Amino acid sequence: MSKTKLALKTFDVESIRKDFPILKRRIFGKPLVYLDNSATAQKPQVVIDAMTDYYTNYNANVHRGIHKLSEEATHAYEEAHEKVAKFINGSFEEIIFTKGTTESLNLVAYSLGKALKPGDEVVITEMEHHSNIVPWQQVCKEKGAALKFIGIAEDGKLDWNSINSQITKKTKIVSLTHVSNVLGTINPIKEIGKVAHENNAIFIVDAAQSVPRMRVDVKDLDADFLAFSGHKMYGPTGIGVLYGKKNILQDMSPFLYGGDMIKEVKFHESRWNDLPWKFEAGTPNIEQGIGLGVAIDYINSIGIENIEEHERELTKHAMKVLEEVPLVTIYGPDAESRSSVVAFNFDNVHAHDVATILDREGIAVRAGHHCAMPLMSVLNIIASVRASFAIYNTKEEIDKLAASLATVRKVFKL
Ligand code: ALA
Repeated sequence: MSKTKLALKTFDVESIRKDFPILKRRIFGKPLVYLDNSATAQKPQVVIDAMTDYYTNYNANVHRGIHKLSEEATHAYEEAHEKVAKFINGSFEEIIFTKGTTESLNLVAYSLGKALKPGDEVVITEMEHHSNIVPWQQVCKEKGAALKFIGIAEDGKLDWNSINSQITKKTKIVSLTHVSNVLGTINPIKEIGKVAHENNAIFIVDAAQSVPRMRVDVKDLDADFLAFSGHKMYGPTGIGVLYGKKNILQDMSPFLYGGDMIKEVKFHESRWNDLPWKFEAGTPNIEQGIGLGVAIDYINSIGIENIEEHERELTKHAMKVLEEVPLVTIYGPDAESRSSVVAFNFDNVHAHDVATILDREGIAVRAGHHCAMPLMSVLNIIASVRASFAIYNTKEEIDKLAASLATVRKVFKL
């Protein structure tokens, strides 16, 4: 079974790059420049190996078999919960594995939404991903509650006047992103959480873009719930996390029924398993959970603070070089207030055209509305090009991105 022990490394991007086999690929004959990390990050060999190891050597269901393989799989799967708990400073019982951030947010919206009544309010922001908008729209419609939005100021940060006016005694839930997947804005979630709690609201954080690249401590933030995905933090797809405070999870109804979440079933009633399994119905994503645990080992071997520092330097560099390119409009706050994401447009060229031209140069970026259509309407655009960074990116790659925009200018005769 998986016995990955990774030694602490000194931060050296060239040696880190060697850990990611995909970075050897060439795209249209050019070296791959992967700048789509906010969509999903690449996987180091140790994560790939851990998943192969599970299927090769100890594939079995968890919490079910009275046999050696099942014991080994159960141990590895539970150990992954422990690694996640330690990584974000929660406890084992507070870590629920889901399919991803979207499922985590749906789980909490569905379960907490049951208690909403007409006249209650749910507060989110104008910079949310669809995953943190649509579940709330649905529960608010069902329950006759109102959905309210914290606005964005000119500088791309949340507007404090709006924070203070939207969160009131009527607010039952405040749910917001830690880092915007479009603007890169790092929101002052600890301070907003205080406002939420002063008004007796539940405070939920979408940490999909922050957990992979900065220290996130659920106790320090005093978050009631926090959601993130494995695949954005060098782990597999199909695995995500919902952290929830134990006392709230204990009182909350399950989201899905059957399998691992059961303690006892009679013909007409049932009792739920202990935390965290109460919220993990069916056979879980065992391989992906184990892979996520190893991804956390990998991040720890580099040091999350080192990752944060490296990506901060990349972001500053990207802002600087892209600002120097004529006809580029960048969205969002200054480099100091953002994390690893730079969304921009190039004159009036559609973002899809820019991304297609960059692709021919081997550069992978995301183009479109980035699953944040309401934010697009605030910015008064239909789409943007988004470059987003990870531990293996270099300043030279960002320079290539900026230089390749010259090709766009040539093609469109600007
Ligand atoms: N949420 C991911 C993104 O921003 C998919 O690209």
